[in-house]
Amino acid sequence: MRIVLVGPPGAGKGTQAAYLAKNLAIPHISTGDLFRANISQDTPLGRKAQEYMRAGQLVPDEVTIGMAKDRMQQSDAEGGFLLDGFPRNLAQAEALDEFLKGEGLRLDGVLDLEVPEDEVVKRIAGRRMCRKDSSHIFHAIYNPPKTEGVCDTCGGELYQREDDREDTVRKRLEVYHTETEPIIDYYKAQGLVVTISALGKVGEVTERAMAALERES
Ligand code: AP5
Ligand code: ZN
Repeated sequence: MRIVLVGPPGAGKGTQAAYLAKNLAIPHISTGDLFRANISQDTPLGRKAQEYMRAGQLVPDEVTIGMAKDRMQQSDAEGGFLLDGFPRNLAQAEALDEFLKGEGLRLDGVLDLEVPEDEVVKRIAGRRMCRKDSSHIFHAIYNPPKTEGVCDTCGGELYQREDDREDTVRKRLEVYHTETEPIIDYYKAQGLVVTISALGKVGEVTERAMAALERES
């Protein structure tokens, strides 16, 4: 299965992707995680991405599209993947279509996570990420770790993302509305979009997502 996960910052894409990828036995490809890994390894790509991420802006397409294609190829696109955070504008959606066409493949569905803005702001404000594994995501109130600052799953240190500052979050939401939301209409025209509410417990959202994807396939 080849799925695109879309939704505003803080909607729970990363949280859901970890469960969905496991249930569907496909790799989870997050461009945000790939950029953060490059930043922590201080690569040239990471240094370039960091200035845009700090400002809450999109990293330029020429950097992002190449990186996403490489990762999809590595994962064996034929076996499927769950894309999280890519594509994020129309140019990236068109580049993805072209890539898939070249490989003789197509998308199976686009899962759109709907969450009101006041909720995403609360989710981002309390988010704590694991330094060792980006799929270990906590929340200070909604999903607190047993020991403050320590990942329950692997013992890694928990940290707050640099771009989770209030002013940067406001910018990211604005960029989502202007640049990313148009891809939902682009995919609606292809009959690929399933929209679900991402409110409720993490497990409930996963069940809703699995049911929606099963209806699509
Ligand atoms: P990226 O890392 O993709 O961030 P994002 O899209 O802004 O999404 P987030 O990671 O903030 O949120 P999420 O939806 O994954 O929520 P999460 O599961 O963590 O991108 C970051 C930056 O990288 C961009 O701004 C851009 O600069 C750059 N970038 C990335 N991709 C790019 C691209 N394609 N092109 C150009 N630039 C790109 O959950 C949030 C919190 O809520 C957590 O604390 C979690 O525990 C909690 N939570 C989750 N579900 C629930 C629930 N059901 N109930 C209560 N709490 C919940
Ligand atoms: Zn961890």
